[in-house]
Amino acid sequence: MAASRLAEAGVESPRTDAELIAAHLHGVPRSQLHLVADADFDPRYWDDIARRAAREPLQHITGLAYFRYLELEVGPGVFVPRMETEVMTGWAVEQLAEMDVAEPVVADLGTGSGAIALAIAQEVPRARVHAVEADPLARQWTERNIARVAAAAPHTAGRVTLHAGDFAAELTELDGTVDLVVSNPPYIPVGSWVPPEVGEYDPATALWSGSDGLGAIRVVEERAQRLLRPGGLVAVEHAAQQGPSVYWIFAEERGWRQTRNHTDLAGRDRFVTASWHMAG
Ligand SMILES: C[S@@+](CC[C@H](N)C(=O)[O-])C[C@H]1O[C@@H](n2cnc3c(N)ncnc32)[C@H](O)[C@@H]1O
Repeated sequence: MAASRLAEAGVESPRTDAELIAAHLHGVPRSQLHLVADADFDPRYWDDIARRAAREPLQHITGLAYFRYLELEVGPGVFVPRMETEVMTGWAVEQLAEMDVAEPVVADLGTGSGAIALAIAQEVPRARVHAVEADPLARQWTERNIARVAAAAPHTAGRVTLHAGDFAAELTELDGTVDLVVSNPPYIPVGSWVPPEVGEYDPATALWSGSDGLGAIRVVEERAQRLLRPGGLVAVEHAAQQGPSVYWIFAEERGWRQTRNHTDLAGRDRFVTASWHMAG
């Protein structure tokens, strides 16, 4: 009944969401929902189903988002981390693991919940991560998640530094020293259609970026030029149709080498990586 109500409301994965909401509310894994006795059923379930039917994101209802090996707190004011970003983060983790640098320095431009920065700190204990976020509301969630992850994975404590401000101007003290710049910036062209879960709940600063959606990515490219040491790497996420445009933003004439398009788990173009060579 809950699943059909969500299906009627246009929710993409109604059964999964209905089960995950029930599992969260009853404090059991989804696989053990059948063990919850009728007498223990929590009637607040129907309030949560009504919220989801009104297209509030599942993660706002449970208050949690899962990203690689992390459980993060999310809610109003912060972008819910997405599965597609996990692939780019995995690429960054692999590159850092192979890097012949004692303590690689990483910059995460537009960190939101801290998903990318914290996953790198958790999976590459040698790394020092500088996370930049302009939105004060989002930064409250970043701070909460830095503390939450440090409690669960003490080796991350002190490894992620949050910087308040615009990534166009922040971190100048690190210019020329960064080993890897990673960013999932806003990249949706203004005026595009997005589902209600996105348009009504993700912060506008996390979504929109000019008429072609490429404004923030161009800024990331300019900042990465300055931040990276020669041979340093950049990874930037983009929308599925932006692959060719983003490839040319990281052009050889601008000093980039080994520019590559990468796909997400659904096989769609999702991020570009490149290696910094020299100023053009
Ligand atoms: C798409 S969200 C990504 C959040 C997180 N990195 C993730 O992948 O889940 C983009 C984030 O960048 C932040 N942001 C956008 N423009 C920015 C800027 N110029 N300087 C700093 N942060 C910015 C937004 O507030 C938002 O938190």
